Amino acid sequence: MQTVVILDFGSQYSQLIARRIRELQVRSELLPGDAPVAEIRAHSPAALIFAGGPASVLAPGSPRPDPAVFELGVPILGICYGLQLMGHLLGGRVAPANDREYGPARLEVDAASALFDGWEVEEEVWMSHGDRLEELPPGFRVVARNPSSPVAAMEDPERRFFGVQFHPEVSHTPKGMRLLKNFVHRIAGCPSNWTMQAYAERQVAALRERIGEHDRVLLALSGGVDSSVTAALLQRAIGDRLVCVFVDNGLLRKDEARQVEERYAARMGLNLVCVDAAEQFLDALAGVVDPEQKRKIIGRAFVKIFEEEAKRLGGFRFLGQGTLYPDVIESVSFRGPAVTIKSHHNVGGLPEKMKLELVEPLRELFKDEVRALGAELGLDDELLWRQPFPGPGLAVRVLGALTRERLDILREADAIVAQEIKAAGLYRSIWQSFAVLLPVQTVGVMGDERTYDNVIAVRAVNSVDAMTADWARLPHELLARLSSRIINEVAGVNRVVYDISSKPPATIEWE
Ligand code: XMP
Repeated sequence: MQTVVILDFGSQYSQLIARRIRELQVRSELLPGDAPVAEIRAHSPAALIFAGGPASVLAPGSPRPDPAVFELGVPILGICYGLQLMGHLLGGRVAPANDREYGPARLEVDAASALFDGWEVEEEVWMSHGDRLEELPPGFRVVARNPSSPVAAMEDPERRFFGVQFHPEVSHTPKGMRLLKNFVHRIAGCPSNWTMQAYAERQVAALRERIGEHDRVLLALSGGVDSSVTAALLQRAIGDRLVCVFVDNGLLRKDEARQVEERYAARMGLNLVCVDAAEQFLDALAGVVDPEQKRKIIGRAFVKIFEEEAKRLGGFRFLGQGTLYPDVIESVSFRGPAVTIKSHHNVGGLPEKMKLELVEPLRELFKDEVRALGAELGLDDELLWRQPFPGPGLAVRVLGALTRERLDILREADAIVAQEIKAAGLYRSIWQSFAVLLPVQTVGVMGDERTYDNVIAVRAVNSVDAMTADWARLPHELLARLSSRIINEVAGVNRVVYDISSKPPATIEWE
């Protein structure tokens, strides 16, 4: 399959470029900018893209590609820092620009260039750069310019090297997709064959080959989108030799465990083992108030129970995991070490510990592609469009110490939030919406009686990737309905508040 390899020099847009190429139904792969040429060649690239980056090519130690990439004989498109790299490394001259160009800009374009096919002579683009290319490297000619950027785009059609100073991948460059299409389809000759149907067929064949005729795969099924699609794909490949383990940790939403049994075992016919471990989790969490402590205890309890179950079921060679492409990129990208804000609960440490080989059939996909694949495999929309739910479950939404009673209060309130958000037709467009039980009591009056009861906070946020989020501007009528239903229907609650904090500085979950 024809692949476009994107070299990442630290730009916030590198992933976006990878997605854009896939939108053209061409496979794309993101590698660190300094990946050795042997590694690049291993992907048999049909074309390369040098993505942007925050550095200056003039700064000592700024990231560079392996010089041998220019000898691969494939077309190269340099974007922003990528254009400057190309200019600098192939014998041109880069200098700091007098005025930094940032935001929308108009360009005069040479529409005869294959790159600009379909562009008008004058077009708007999105610029963001400090340096600029002042002298072309030998063999190149200018194909777009404006007063601030004398080389806003360049080409060497002979070697099929192209560079653009602006960002074609962002939506603020209206003809950007057309340019990428020209590069990928026309210049590099890649056909559109990256479809989810083809992907599913290839993965099923690859999984059969890797797993063989006899071995079995163990999968921790959470009921979320990623583990569900992983399960559906593996089931198609090896049928009953996939064993899914669902751990009910007592921290799930209302009716969730029952729904999982019904959906996965009854409807999908998965080979499913449900483990009721609520007691063990709640015992281990008794009296624990600190959020990090809670997270660590839950993580450890999960691993222990999962290992016991694996031992009991016996004889697994593989562990399935719903790792997605952004997680893979994260571990190879230029980003430095980050502080731990919250210890995330996942099954990352399991494979080494359990000495199982990993099978990660979604490793190449972005989240929207996983949904498309899930639909291809016949999973229903309700499952595919579920809002994210944290691994530690309601434990991080009952603030302070957990008890069964407090979990029940939250469960009822949370079910009302979900129902009303769905009824208002907002469930899909909102990133997450849920209830939180606060560790305070307030005074109220019901009938003629004084009450001293709990407070529920409602949280609803908009986000694209959970890295940043803003509180959703829910209609007042909806807030009113939520408040009145929760206070009237959930015993033990006499006050509802709405969380109006964005992330940062708050986070989405309260713990
Ligand atoms: P925060 O609260 O850090 O959450 O803004 C960002 C996103 O991550 C989810 N979340 C988790 N997901 N395991 C998960 O799988 C966890 O331990 C965990 N903690 C938070 C949270 O719901 C939000 O979508």
